[in-house]
Amino acid sequence: MSGFGNEFATEALPGTLPQGQNSPQKVAHGLYAEQLSGTAFTAPRGENRRSWLYRIRPAAMHETFAAYEQPRFHNLFGHEPVPPDQLRWNPLPMPDTPVDFVDGLYTMAGNGYPAAQHGVGIHLYAANRSMQGRYFYDADGELLIVPQQGALRIATELGVLDVAPQEIAVIPRGVRFRVELLDGEARGYVCENFGAQLRLPDLGPIGSNGLANPRDFLAPKAAYEDLEGDFELLAKFQGNLWKAKIGHSPLDVVGWHGNYAPYKYDLRRFNTIGSISFDHPDPSIFTVLTSPSDTRGTANMDFVIFPPRWLVAQHTFRPPWFHRNVASEFMGLVHGAYDAKAEGFAPGGASLHNCMSGHGPDAATFEKASHADLAKPDVIGDTMAFMFETRAVISPTRQALDAAHRQRDYQQCWAGLRKHFIPPG
Ligand SMILES: [Fe+2]
Repeated sequence: MSGFGNEFATEALPGTLPQGQNSPQKVAHGLYAEQLSGTAFTAPRGENRRSWLYRIRPAAMHETFAAYEQPRFHNLFGHEPVPPDQLRWNPLPMPDTPVDFVDGLYTMAGNGYPAAQHGVGIHLYAANRSMQGRYFYDADGELLIVPQQGALRIATELGVLDVAPQEIAVIPRGVRFRVELLDGEARGYVCENFGAQLRLPDLGPIGSNGLANPRDFLAPKAAYEDLEGDFELLAKFQGNLWKAKIGHSPLDVVGWHGNYAPYKYDLRRFNTIGSISFDHPDPSIFTVLTSPSDTRGTANMDFVIFPPRWLVAQHTFRPPWFHRNVASEFMGLVHGAYDAKAEGFAPGGASLHNCMSGHGPDAATFEKASHADLAKPDVIGDTMAFMFETRAVISPTRQALDAAHRQRDYQQCWAGLRKHFIPPG
């Protein structure tokens, strides 16, 4: 079903949804009615998100939760000194034992915390088997999943999303799901957004079209499992992981209506806008989705992409400029090469440029772009980089700082920038 944040109605069995009300005395087919609220009941109408689920059993039915050990996936950041260095990592290695999506999550960095409902957790995942007999939900934040290798089938309470590299999926806070791997192995990035739900940015003078267009966001049709068995429900709550026995599949929603639902988007649909005269705009022009903070115009997190595009600016240094930023920037690469780095930033890799850390094109890129023939347009094809940009400093985790796949010589990519200054006279 098409459209960002639409009011959807979908049923896997005809006649499931009640007409003219949400909570009839008896629901069709012997189902239970359950409301899932993603915003305060009283949130303004334009931001209010909730869905009504008509399901075989209510979500309340499971055994008691106990701690679940997965020490690589957590929200333990911000407790130790954050180096002001520019940081970069090689891709997360694939596991050499059977590991599913939840066990394959690896926390890189983050800020804020779930209890305060602001900030983000930034994770990678590397997995080589589907989740079997278990289901997961995250009460701490919505999950923006950015696959880099291998397609995922994400079976959720509200239906099934198939998501391949260069697409993204967003699983709302609390929605239960199972991840199946369609290509054997899978790797990618996850932004766990503790703050306000992601939404499309305002377009200002751009007008009523452009960037990510609402109609290109897809929500799943209702699909349900009527399964009983010895299953496990995993939860993330207040930074910790929990597990409980559950005697049935929680993916048992036969019909639902509302505007709180998972969705997917193909990043190749992004209508990229840039300069056709000189210089280039701030990278906020590439914002796909934004999580606003309580300060107007200052995002808890912006999801920004660097997609294929033409470079036509005249008397202009065309790659991303050198800069320092009060915001903090975690970058990943889904596909191809990133135009500001000649080497070292591989698909599946990551970089972190925190508040006021200088960064920009590496020496090779600077030399090449400084001598480029600007009479010719240049096209950047075959690429898909992205950034999670946050107003708060992004603290790397201990495991990310200590990781064998961290590039401890990253700063050397700027060491070759030569002094060109010649004073007049
Ligand atoms: Fe930057």
